[in-house]
Amino acid sequence: MKGGVSSHMIAIAKNTNKLVTPSNQLVTDTLQRPLRDLRISLTDQCNFRCTYCMPKEIFGPKYQFLKKQNILNFDELMNVVKGFVDCGVKKIRLTGGEPLLRAGICDFIKQLKTIPEIEDIALTTNGEFLPPMAKKLKEAGLDRVTISLDAISDQIFSEMNGRNLNTDKILLAIDSARDAGLAPKVNMVVIKGVNDHDIMPMVNFFKDKKTTLRFIEFMDVGNHNKWNKGQVISGKEILDLIKKSYAIEPVDASYLGEVAKRYRFIDDGTEFGLITSVSQSFCSDCSRARISADGKVYTCLFSQSGTDLLEPIRSGASVEETTQLIKNIWTHRHDRYSELRDEIISRMQNNTKIESSYIGG
Ligand code: GTP
Ligand code: 5AD
Ligand code: SF4
Ligand code: SF4
Repeated sequence: MKGGVSSHMIAIAKNTNKLVTPSNQLVTDTLQRPLRDLRISLTDQCNFRCTYCMPKEIFGPKYQFLKKQNILNFDELMNVVKGFVDCGVKKIRLTGGEPLLRAGICDFIKQLKTIPEIEDIALTTNGEFLPPMAKKLKEAGLDRVTISLDAISDQIFSEMNGRNLNTDKILLAIDSARDAGLAPKVNMVVIKGVNDHDIMPMVNFFKDKKTTLRFIEFMDVGNHNKWNKGQVISGKEILDLIKKSYAIEPVDASYLGEVAKRYRFIDDGTEFGLITSVSQSFCSDCSRARISADGKVYTCLFSQSGTDLLEPIRSGASVEETTQLIKNIWTHRHDRYSELRDEIISRMQNNTKIESSYIGG
């Protein structure tokens, strides 16, 4: 096995039972943040080419995606998930790229459902393949879906998704998710000069549909979206805009570390949310770990490197040994990129952050 720390931790786990984490114990990082959520990227491929995530000039026919043999199979992934659960994870989110491109996803969800400690299984999708799958996903045990839709205007949406795709298919996907009992939420990444004119049309449309819409501040994830702070519309600006048309009130967070700040329209109770990673970071409560399709653990969305679990697992690591590796990663964690963004950017020599399509946003 490569990686000294990993081999060492496996050796510890083999030699003494005392150091193996008891089931679902609270493992905290250097800033006392527990490990509660796991975001699993099932593939780095996507059927969309959103300009801010997989611009088609970069992610063209020659782009090297992960090779099949380097992707964790579902049995290996279950080993990883059980390790995370033994460190405290209770929520799972399946992401991509586009997670619905991964064959066998329903069977994997059925397997996840057999782990009693997991309280919530959610999925983030662009929705194109959802309509024929929504019921099967629900029956397999999926609790919730989040569907990305960056505009209600066909012109803006078709430019942003890089595929000239209109909104009708995605609106159908949202309806199919609702019909299947998957409580869909909609995510809109807001970029100044690109889709900000669609903020109120999106509000009006989804309020009418009584569907929760969340506005995500454009973030500097990855290396290719030419992010600059001037393109960010802050959550406060969005809130002020909505307040001009509607009476609203804040809603308490439903769990510690909730990413979205939630609000409700007073007239009909429909909720919306603001995800303010740039203007008001939420690192202090961040309980999320991410695993890429090729088995690397990332403790921050803005990480530059991850810790490989594929190799130890293929070398025969048991669940207990995987637990120990994860515990070691998490107890050393000190990430708070969004809190330190300006300072880190000014220090950064070359941009080598992981891609959003690789780790799932
Ligand atoms: P629930 O609250 O469980 O519904 O899910 P969520 O809001 O955590 O999940 P979702 O994938 O819908 O998150 C929405 C978006 O928020 C993501 O696509 C990211 O863009 C952003 N986001 C989620 N987690 C983090 C995080 O830990 N750090 C930062 N900076 N952004 C995040
Ligand atoms: N800024 C904000 N959100 C992003 N996402 C991907 N890239 C970015 C970015 N640069 C979001 C997508 C989707 C989820 C997978 O991640 O909109 O909702
Ligand atoms: Fe767009 Fe999501 Fe695909 Fe990225 S992973 S290109 S945000 S649909
Ligand atoms: Fe967590 Fe990193 Fe996002 Fe902060 S920037 S909330 S540490 S993932």
